[in-house]
Amino acid sequence: MDVKGGIELTSLQAAPLEAQVDLFAFTTFGDPSKDSIFKSVDSALGGVLAEIAKSESFDGKVGQTIAVHTHGRIPAKRVLVVGAGVRAEFSNPHIRDIAATVAQAANKAGAATLGFLMPALGASREPQLVQLATEGVYLGTYKFGRYFTGEDHKRPMSLKSFGIVADGKGKKPSAAQSKAFAAAVARGTQIAQAVNHARDLINEPAAVITPAALAADAQAIAKKHKGTLTVVVLDAKKCEELGMGMFLAVGKGSDQEPRFIHMTYKPAKKPKKKLCFIGKGITFDSGGYSLKTSQAMEDMKVDMSGAAAVISSMDAIATLGSDYEVHAVAACCENLVSGRAYKLGDVLTSMDGTTVEINNTDAEGRLTLGDAITYARTKIQPDEMFDFATLTGACMIALGPYTAGVLSDHDNLVRGWLAVAERTGEDMWRLPLTARLREQLKSPIADLRNTGDRYGGAITAGLFLKTFAKDTPWVHVDLAGPASLAMARPSQPKGGTGFAVSTIVEYATKP
Ligand code: BES
Ligand code: MN
Ligand code: ZN
Repeated sequence: MDVKGGIELTSLQAAPLEAQVDLFAFTTFGDPSKDSIFKSVDSALGGVLAEIAKSESFDGKVGQTIAVHTHGRIPAKRVLVVGAGVRAEFSNPHIRDIAATVAQAANKAGAATLGFLMPALGASREPQLVQLATEGVYLGTYKFGRYFTGEDHKRPMSLKSFGIVADGKGKKPSAAQSKAFAAAVARGTQIAQAVNHARDLINEPAAVITPAALAADAQAIAKKHKGTLTVVVLDAKKCEELGMGMFLAVGKGSDQEPRFIHMTYKPAKKPKKKLCFIGKGITFDSGGYSLKTSQAMEDMKVDMSGAAAVISSMDAIATLGSDYEVHAVAACCENLVSGRAYKLGDVLTSMDGTTVEINNTDAEGRLTLGDAITYARTKIQPDEMFDFATLTGACMIALGPYTAGVLSDHDNLVRGWLAVAERTGEDMWRLPLTARLREQLKSPIADLRNTGDRYGGAITAGLFLKTFAKDTPWVHVDLAGPASLAMARPSQPKGGTGFAVSTIVEYATKP
């Protein structure tokens, strides 16, 4: 579970033909016969690379690789060529998947030392590429293996040293370059550690990650950062006193007590502004009396992915430091059925006084978030607030499984957020808060009802939340799709992804 897993990231000064490593890896953009590194390594290896490229139709596309033994022809024992696609289309986050592919190949080959020649994309992009490659190494070697008992799963990874060759000419870097390299590695390591921690929280069964367990995790993180990070955990009684009628109703059907988590990071200097990140923390979503089918329920331990993201991000934010006061809030509970569970037709009174008629107990996330948003808006009074929630299947229907929906009426804020997401490479797309759909949320007996029609489900969920955000600048991120994956990619294994962590950390520490 420790992200460091024994792999050390180093700066390696060695030309491709001189690196004394178990595995030397480099990228080609498209046709390898036009790549000077490929050609020089190929000729040192007696033409074997070109031969394989031809027979395996390798043309440098993303996802393609060539792996060969060097049989002593160059100091490196093996060579790996990784396709990087079209150079003009290569954005920095692509390097994350490439570094992950390289680290995985090294482990598969039993290699302990590795040299990875960074593609030459200009010196200004280098620190960012080093950070993202570092993330890729740790994200790509992540495994949730706790519950396997076989010896195979206990074997440590072979890869010990991932050497990044920033300059293929083997030149010694300047002091400033070395410093920038170390900072980029440190940053990438912190971010990957937070992402992997979120993955652990998501992948653990709901029987382990209860609301109390999430609260204990937040407390453990705060303990690591004495002086800058504090946490307050509210139990049901405290939430009752605050009038969180929606949040408490959702948790009523479970024997697991609800927990409301509030973490605060305070910078040493007077903060430039106050940010609040709110995460949906349903530790298991059965749907309640609007019960899900077995298939739809199977993966519902992931319904606390938003909470996992905001809690884990605070660790990296506190380590990296921020000019902002940063808050993380998560209203955590379990949505189950029992003689005490909330029912369809119930009318709930939210923390801000709005009454809500329940017409679907499976639309529970907006209820817990509604009170969390009211808490944030009134108790924290942030300049900006963001919520992260595995909120609607409708969002996955709209955008597919890899893209989060982003909804907000605050154009500048949402643009700023999406610009950061573009840098981190997390797929997000704006959806409108179509005001006319509010008519779907009308109730004959209360101020609101909690669900509308099937069509526009991601939008009506957003409109519901907006009622509670009021005028506070707010962005809603629906990550029902990307929170957990059925189809892996190199830097994201199947299961919990830790989606949103890297954008949250980037936004809070490097806006
Ligand atoms: N947690 C689910 C949404 C979800 C679905 C997350 C699939 C991850 C993967 C949420 O609480 C839910 O049940 N939403 C309902 C809303 C509906 C009742 C309006 C949905 O999407 O079906
Ligand atoms: Mn639900
Ligand atoms: Zn849910």
